[in-house]
Formats: sequence, C-alpha cells, structure tokens
Amino acid sequence: MSLMRTMILATAALGLVPAGALAQAKLKVGLMLPYTGTYAALGNAIENGFRLYVAEQGGKLGGREIEFIKVDDESDPSKATDNVNKLVKRDNVDVIVGSVHSGVAMAMAKVAKDSGTLLIVPNAGADTVTGAMCAPNIFRSSFSNWQPGYAMGEVLAKKGVKTAVTITWKYAAGDEMVRGFKEAFEKGGGKVTKELNLPFPNVEFQALLTEIAAAKPDAVFSFFAGGGAVKFVKDYAAAGLKKSIPLYGTGFLTDGTLEAQGEAAEGVQTTLHYADGLNTPRDNAFRLAYAKSYKLQPDVYAVQGYDAAQILGSGLAAVKGDVAKKAEFIAAARKARIDSPRGAFSLSAAHNPVQDIYLRQVSAKENKVIGVASKALTDPARGCKM
Ligand code: PHB
Repeated sequence: MSLMRTMILATAALGLVPAGALAQAKLKVGLMLPYTGTYAALGNAIENGFRLYVAEQGGKLGGREIEFIKVDDESDPSKATDNVNKLVKRDNVDVIVGSVHSGVAMAMAKVAKDSGTLLIVPNAGADTVTGAMCAPNIFRSSFSNWQPGYAMGEVLAKKGVKTAVTITWKYAAGDEMVRGFKEAFEKGGGKVTKELNLPFPNVEFQALLTEIAAAKPDAVFSFFAGGGAVKFVKDYAAAGLKKSIPLYGTGFLTDGTLEAQGEAAEGVQTTLHYADGLNTPRDNAFRLAYAKSYKLQPDVYAVQGYDAAQILGSGLAAVKGDVAKKAEFIAAARKARIDSPRGAFSLSAAHNPVQDIYLRQVSAKENKVIGVASKALTDPARGCKM
C-alpha cells in the first residue's frame, strides 16, 4: 500500500476526512517506454493510445484518477532492471505498463513476477512473457512474436513459395518472429535457406542485401520496426531487390512508417493484428478520436496502448479501483472481452490476446487489409504453467 493511501486510511479512521476521499487517491501507473532511439515513435503512440482511453472514461478507471510516472527505457535491456525497480520500489506504482523492446520486457516480467506488481505489456512480443515466465499478474495487450511470424509462414506456404531468406535484428523479437515464420512455412512445404541478422539497432544493411541478391530466394521475410524499418525498406528498394525478390514481413515493417518510406513500401505484404481500412464502427470511432486528439493517424502501437488501458480498466472496474484485491482484479481482467479497434479479443489462459492476424498490403501509404491470414490465432504459450 502506498504511503499516501495509508495516511488517508489512517486519517479516515480517525474521522478526519470523509471516507469518500479514499476514492480520490490517484492510481499510479508507471509507463516504462522508449522515448528516445529507433523505437521512440512507438513509445509515444502507446502512451497516446493509453491516455485516449482514459480520457474517454472521463479521466478515471475503476473510479480512480490516474497519475502517470514515466521512464524512458531507451530500448536498452542492460538498464531495464534498474529502470523497472525505480518504478516499483521508489515510486511505488500500482501497475507497470511497458515496454516495446522484448529484451526490456523480459527484465520487467522478472521483476513483476518476483514483486507481484501488476504488469501490462503494450507491445513487446517476447514469447516467454506469456510462455515460461507467465504469471497471474502479467498481461499483454499486443501479441507474441510467434503470432504474426507464424501467420506469414502459412501465407507464403499457401502461395506456393518454395524458398525464403530471413533478415532481422539479432534479439528475441527477430529470433522469435523468424522462428514462428519458419515453423509454419516449413510445415507447409517451404524452406528457409538462409537466416541473416545484424545487431539491434544497427542499420548497416548493405552487405546483407548483397547476400540476398546472390542467394536469389523466392521471397524475403523480415522483422524491423520504427526508424530501422524505415531505412530497411528504403534500402531494399534502392538496392533494386524489390522487383526481383518480393519483400514480406510482420506488419511492424510498415506500421507507423509509411510517410517516411514513401514509394519504397508500395506493394509490400505483411501480417499483423491490426490494419488500415478495417472500416468497422469501433475502429472508425477510435481513429477519428485519435486523429482529433493528437493530429496524427493511429497505428498498431496506439491500438495496443489503448487496449492496455482497457485491460487495466476491466480489472479495476471489478474491484472498484482497489488494486489490493489482486485475485479479483486478475480474474476479471483475464475474462474480459476487450472491445479493441482491431476487433474484439479475449485473453488466453497465459494472458496473451487470442486474435485474428490480418494480411495487409501497402497501397497509397496505407496498410490495407486484404484478408485474414489466421483466424483467432492462439500463441502456444510454450512452457507456461499457471
Ligand atoms: C519487440 O522487441 O518485441 C518488438 C519491438 C518492436 C516491434 C515489435 C516487437 O514493432
């Protein structure tokens, strides 16, 4: 319990403040996101989405006003444990929301598991967060890395693509998206002939693009995101590869990046749990509200931030804002049907979204939905015992 809350309780017990004042204590939300570096735009979009949902609820969730405490995690796993401990131990937050980078999120999940603090992951796909490290107090509003990778493997195998080269950053997100892709692609009769990597967040792609040109696969599958994705898609086109070897990827490759990628991204197909042109009343209302509030178009990260707030809201509503009632909070959040702009979804037993993965194609600077690659795809939650 926070010191403030203890004081309010004590004074309330002495009859010094009306009991109603208790409801006024703000809920402390620790936002641990990248606000600098290649993922900075992603962190901002998540915060915007989160704040939009709270604003739509009149600034309160479960009757509690929200106080935000922000940490820039710089997408640096080596600083992640210290950063998350600041929120948990120094600031005594009620819930942690973060982060974007899988390596950072794994450190956060460890601290959350050990301390029992509620954690809602609004992006990072690290499979283990809802796999071997799963815990009752850890929720994810986004995806597992396996999900969009696996869906694209199925799509390419069904297209009859025979060989693919993969290219990504060498860390959990890239490794796991490639692994998911490979699992489905090879099950469907394809073969990954080469796996290319470079360290995060490097963008020196030239030597690897030369290797792709020499290997001449039928297709390339890639994961990059944020600033790195902008450069990769442009470099791929500039190297003249786009016409001869079609580029595919998880949707992060082209989400929130199309203004900067321009013509280079046209035609690229990706798989993701969100898309442009869904044209549902729910998504249209969300997009309008987001554009009005921020003078920006929303992207998948904004949706995930918005839905992280919805998961928090559903738990808080059940306990009327009293997060100390952890078991009740968890049971309610676990069972909630989240009315997401992406389409309504539920959480799996491991607390990861069970969701449709769309096939999208870039057209006129939009990730236009062209189909559903995988319906209600559930992460296998390998190693989760809960
Ligand atoms: C991740 O590190 O899990 C990650 C980062 C950026 C994305 C997607 C996944 O766009």
